[in-house]
Amino acid sequence: MRNVLVTGGAGFIGSNFVRYLLRAEPDARVVNLDALTYAGSRENLRDLPGAERHVFVHGDIRDRERVGTLMHAYSVDSVVHFAAESHVDRSITGPAAFIDTNINGTFVLLEAARAAWLDGTARRTDVRFHHVSTDEVFGSLGPGEPAFTEQTPYRPNSPYSASKAASDHLVRAYGHTYGLPLTISNCSNNYGPFQFPEKLIPLMILNAVRGKPLPVYGDGLQVRDWLHVEDHCEAIHAILRRGRPGETYNVGGNNQPTNLEIVRTICGLLDERFPDSPHRPHERLIRFVTDRPGHDRRYAMDISKIGRELGWSPRHSLADGLRDTIDWYLAHPDWLAAIDAKGEFQSWLAQNYATRGTA
Ligand code: NAD
Ligand code: TYD
Repeated sequence: MRNVLVTGGAGFIGSNFVRYLLRAEPDARVVNLDALTYAGSRENLRDLPGAERHVFVHGDIRDRERVGTLMHAYSVDSVVHFAAESHVDRSITGPAAFIDTNINGTFVLLEAARAAWLDGTARRTDVRFHHVSTDEVFGSLGPGEPAFTEQTPYRPNSPYSASKAASDHLVRAYGHTYGLPLTISNCSNNYGPFQFPEKLIPLMILNAVRGKPLPVYGDGLQVRDWLHVEDHCEAIHAILRRGRPGETYNVGGNNQPTNLEIVRTICGLLDERFPDSPHRPHERLIRFVTDRPGHDRRYAMDISKIGRELGWSPRHSLADGLRDTIDWYLAHPDWLAAIDAKGEFQSWLAQNYATRGTA
């Protein structure tokens, strides 16, 4: 049996990954360590199997004793590290939590892995520490610049991306200095089921359905490289099991629409879906609001390395992925009610948009 410590497994990508892993590896057991911040929820884990395959631990990655105990108690042989503060806008208004969790938390995990796997006489080679990172560490691309490769220098622009860059460097250093068997993936923007609605795509779906304004930052011509979360999970699993130790892999969706195109597509899909809606055409709800400070203009990922070495490429087209994602949010009113009940989403909306003027 393989024992996989997943951190942040009650969040968006983490919970999708736990499901993916349990399906892909019938002999795996997941120990899911999550602090249940505003972004994490037990609702994301509702349909998971019992303790023989999935153990949920409500705890913090910064808790050294807890993490060390888990590594030993469950004979952990793989760590997949998702836990993080993940929202750029929140990193602008409150960067401290990003430094604490993303940098110090990663450091605690690395120390625990080193102690469990590398200290003493029996150094283990059958182990893996996989760190989940972002394309945002590479900074922003100009219109004609080529996509980010694994060789692109780091040039993070927000407190979020700087904290992720710092954690990537720490992980890499533990490989170089101590021989920790590690891999790192840098992935572009994800979308799909269970995403907390502070992020662009679920925010636009929910606000449009509810007839609320659709706040587009600046001119809306920023570009992201959207990837369906299931494709991301498949890529992480391929890297975890078949990636070369010490390597980093770029992961992306091979499509780069503007934010405005994404929002308009969502509006069009909702127009089709709800021909009698009083909010139709949903595009009427679009509002251009004050831009995010330091807003990165464009991201694009060169994913040739992971294609060449591991045979991975995204399966979902953006059009189908968006349609499925809208369907998922509409089919899960109970999930939405649970998120609404926590109050975090509504208070975020109020806080984020109260201070934004019209662009
Ligand atoms: P998320 O915000 O939805 O989930 C983060 C999870 O981590 C939550 O469940 C939260 O409770 C947990 N967490 C936060 N602080 C913790 C702590 N101190 N101890 C334990 N658990 C803690 O984030 P996500 O979108 O699922 O992102 C997961 C990872 O993937 C992050 O590392 C992020 O940087 C990276 N990533 C995200 C995207 C994206 O588009 N969402 C793209 C590339 C990379
Ligand atoms: P987001 O989902 O926050 O991801 P990230 O900042 O990590 O890329 O934002 C995606 C893009 O959408 C980004 O360019 C900011 C923009 N955006 C808006 O225009 N309006 C919004 O309400 C939000 C949340 C994001």
